[in-house]
Amino acid sequence: MSNYIKQLQERRSIYALGQNVSLTQNQIENLIKEAVKASPSAFNSQSSRVVILFGQAKDQFWNEITLGALEKVTPAEAFEATKAKIASFAAGIGTVLFFEDQDVVKGLQEQFPLYADNFPIWSEHSTGIAQHSVWTALANENIGASLQHYNPLVDQGVAEVFNIPSSWILRAQMPFGSIEAPAGEKTYMDDSQRFMSFGQI
Ligand SMILES: Cc1cc2nc3c(=O)[nH]c(=O)nc-3n(C[C@H](O)[C@H](O)[C@H](O)COP(=O)(O)O)c2cc1C
Repeated sequence: MSNYIKQLQERRSIYALGQNVSLTQNQIENLIKEAVKASPSAFNSQSSRVVILFGQAKDQFWNEITLGALEKVTPAEAFEATKAKIASFAAGIGTVLFFEDQDVVKGLQEQFPLYADNFPIWSEHSTGIAQHSVWTALANENIGASLQHYNPLVDQGVAEVFNIPSSWILRAQMPFGSIEAPAGEKTYMDDSQRFMSFGQI
């Protein structure tokens, strides 16, 4: 099997995260930057924006912004479980916030009116590709991660605390760290229900 397929298979949702990562902060930042830059976007519009949180900034995101927002909408009896879940994300070494710049989307819509309806969709595709590139690049360095979606609940808090431009819309959060427990079992539906192939080379 190709090395690339093996790397794709190594990327899993890792929920038991720790701080035992050998890469430096600078190396992690570069890895994430290069993974995003290598990801394609419609018309090479590069609409994806990324904020990487470490240390106290990462803790503030999870323990203050996210937990604070969740406390307002979570029934009191369920809040202990919520707290434990958020603590598991904060236990990692960092968190990547993925945004899409709506000014880029609007600019494309004005420049290419024929495709106006497609640009918001393609922006969503672009963030998904960027997220997957980063997730796989981290896995390739033996760093575990998962994909979370506390937006839009946390959007205002994130924008205020991290001084995020108003045109950036938060799309996903990716907590990462050392792999403290392996991924759960993954099942697959039957290939015959997913794939079709026609013709012959
Ligand atoms: C678009 C998308 C949204 C997801 N949202 C969440 C999420 O909000 N929380 C979470 O824990 N996992 C989320 N996941 C992770 C999936 O549950 C996970 O990728 C899937 O079960 C396959 O497992 P694997 O990542 O180990 O291959 C999401 C994945 C994708 C692709």
